Amino acid sequence: MGYSFDKIIDRRGSGAYMTDSLKERYGREDLIPLWIADMNFETPAPVREALEKRLAHQVYGYTGTAEHYWQTLIDWERRIHGWEIARETITFIPGIVRGIAFVLHCFTDPGDKVVVQPPVYMPFLNLPRANGRQLVYNPLIFDETAGTYRMDLENLAQVCRTEKPRLLILSNPHNPAGVVWPAEDLARLAAICQQEGVLVISDEIHADMTLGGHVHHPFPTVSETAATVSVTFAAPSKTFNIPGIVSSFCVVPNPEIRLKFYGFLEANELNATMFLSTVATEAAFTQCDDWRREMLSYVQENVEYVCHFIETRIPGIRAVRPQASFLIWLDCRGLGLGHDALIDLFVNQARLALNDGEAFGPGGEGHMRMNVAAPRAVLTQALTQLEAAVKSLKN
Ligand SMILES: Cc1ncc(COP(=O)(O)O)c(C=O)c1O
Repeated sequence: MGYSFDKIIDRRGSGAYMTDSLKERYGREDLIPLWIADMNFETPAPVREALEKRLAHQVYGYTGTAEHYWQTLIDWERRIHGWEIARETITFIPGIVRGIAFVLHCFTDPGDKVVVQPPVYMPFLNLPRANGRQLVYNPLIFDETAGTYRMDLENLAQVCRTEKPRLLILSNPHNPAGVVWPAEDLARLAAICQQEGVLVISDEIHADMTLGGHVHHPFPTVSETAATVSVTFAAPSKTFNIPGIVSSFCVVPNPEIRLKFYGFLEANELNATMFLSTVATEAAFTQCDDWRREMLSYVQENVEYVCHFIETRIPGIRAVRPQASFLIWLDCRGLGLGHDALIDLFVNQARLALNDGEAFGPGGEGHMRMNVAAPRAVLTQALTQLEAAVKSLKN
């Protein structure tokens, strides 16, 4: 169809975190923003048109949830991942981060332990901490041969045995390194968690953006045990660039966990849909296949472009090639800089706004996360600025 992912969109003044919080977060505004995980591409036209059509109606009153919304979610998961979901196992969630917080409140008490596998998406660390739970780490291992991370399942078994955590939060696929977990590893993780009585949250927000032929495995599909021990979250928000419209959903196959969790959500009216969410989700999941295919192919080319540029022109930085999504994890330890000097290099010398790896917990030190869902010309400019800044370090 020829979508224009090359089009540069000025988001300044729209209230976007990406552009409009630069001063507050980075201390200056003259930066190329490639940080927060939304795309610098237009949201697909069918989604915008469906929203405009609904907004053209004069009344934005309380709105029920049509049965076809749920069917759309079921059809999508079957078609994209071969995942069969029973209607009664799904509910709406007003954002995945909030969903994780709801699970935390429903299934754990202050002081309880929660396992995370750093370096990992910041709210996995911040939510348990902010709610008085204790974090237990099972750090990922960088596998030199594979050029990406793997889970340390031996250590996980030990951590679960000795620390007695109540919950494990899994990023499936993994943010920040874009790892698509092998089904066998997910099944082993499920078996360990079941044995030790640990509930698993599988956050699958990046699942619909696998790259290079990698296959995503929805957690509940990898084994009976996985289906039994888990709460899974998914959403159209990342893939179709609508994260400003809360539109996530949750799947819980285990009836006991479901009764407790959905009972909690319903008692507090936390799972009521919002009309713009259902409209946007249905349009995204039924009318945007071409857009998604072309977006992924553009992102894949961006990944190759950025990795090649860094490998050939920026010594001291190593890019971890993502297997899913549009985030590249940059190992900058080869530059030999301390934390403040690294941030100074990116912000004040290269004039780039990326995510500071330290925020992702242990193992994130000396890393930066770069969002490559941007027009190629923007990436070229960003990489050229970074190359010059790194060269000037050596002089
Ligand atoms: C792994 C992961 N989970 C959740 C979110 C955010 O989800 P939501 O906006 O639905 O709270 C993100 C956003 O970057 C993410 O990467």
